[in-house]
Amino acid sequence: MNTYLSLNRDRHRKAVVFTMSKLIYLDNAATTFPKPRAVYGAVNSAIQNYGANPGRSGHKMSLKAAELVYNCRETAANFYNAPNVENIIFTPNCTYALNTVIMGFLKAGDNAVVSNLEHNSVLRPLELLKSRGVSYTVAEVVHGDFDATVDNFRNAINHNTKLFVITHASNVTGTILPVGRLTALAHQYGIKVLIDTAQTPGVLPIDTQELNIDFLAAPGHKGLMGPMGTGILYIKEPESLSPLVCGGTGSSSLDLKQPEALPDRFESGTCNLPGICGLKKGIDFVNSVSIKKIQSHEYSLLVSLYDKLSRINGVVLYTPKPSAEYNAPLISFNVDGKSSEETADILNRRYSIAVRAGLHCAPLTHKMLGTEETGAVRASMSYFNNSNDIAALANAIKNISYFENKKFK
Ligand code: ALA
Repeated sequence: MNTYLSLNRDRHRKAVVFTMSKLIYLDNAATTFPKPRAVYGAVNSAIQNYGANPGRSGHKMSLKAAELVYNCRETAANFYNAPNVENIIFTPNCTYALNTVIMGFLKAGDNAVVSNLEHNSVLRPLELLKSRGVSYTVAEVVHGDFDATVDNFRNAINHNTKLFVITHASNVTGTILPVGRLTALAHQYGIKVLIDTAQTPGVLPIDTQELNIDFLAAPGHKGLMGPMGTGILYIKEPESLSPLVCGGTGSSSLDLKQPEALPDRFESGTCNLPGICGLKKGIDFVNSVSIKKIQSHEYSLLVSLYDKLSRINGVVLYTPKPSAEYNAPLISFNVDGKSSEETADILNRRYSIAVRAGLHCAPLTHKMLGTEETGAVRASMSYFNNSNDIAALANAIKNISYFENKKFK
């Protein structure tokens, strides 16, 4: 770890944590907190200094606002190695980006293949499309065995399969999917691929050209460190998609049809300028630290937490023993005798530790884990967490488990 970055990270973290009365935030898979300082500054500055509507007017402030949006689009395009800046579409979140592709690409008679680790942001639009003649098939992911996972996807393909929708990493177990191999498999059969990177931007590297990605959906407010209300959709071939929403784009106003030109075709309505300005600074931050360092820091926290929790009697771990190849930085578990909500509530009230409990919007994953009744406690790390946070959570869980089970290992 670069000492300057490490000191800077810890100073920044201390300042923010102080204002939150020493809250230990381990809910970064829901949204990262804190954000880099520059993100707060950029959001504030956008509202205070450049608060005109980008792309709608010709005055100085509107032009400046449009330039700021372009700067972020360019930064995102470089980040994902997109061939053109216009391949990057801004959306309000990752769910919206996923819906844009699922609803805009699949037609009556088409089939999609999805993994059993998908989020409701994928499963619900597909369920909705059933009434329009679209079907979907679920392929099982085998943690730690990419060959078996690829085989399961191959076996799920039928003559009507037009799209794979695959999460880069599960938001419940952290399991990483072999997205490159699955994309190569899909392309052998002329099938397009949508990758849901809800948990991985800024944490795991992904290159749209190297993997020949068709569609990629990303939140701006998690690993990319931007504000909530931001998301990114990468589209390789825009003509393959109908827009999800039509309306004001500030362009071709006499034409009643949605413009074909990008990014307007997929960006109707006034954009989230403050969010996009913050997102730009978030991506800059990730680039300045490097994904490699972020991944290595978060992975070391994951290993440490797994190690500590696995030694506590009465703790059931749902995340398999971590390896850098197969695990994103989050861990799910329960304390024997308690629902996930009860454990999270004690962590919150007694220890001021923020985690997420419940079903995490991923019903098939919980069916697989057998946790439909209890849900699971999920702890998820960011670059701003440190080993003290991990020790505090492990100690708290040890106490909760002891009082619940009245015994130590
Ligand atoms: N999908 C996000 C999560 O897993 C919000 O918490």
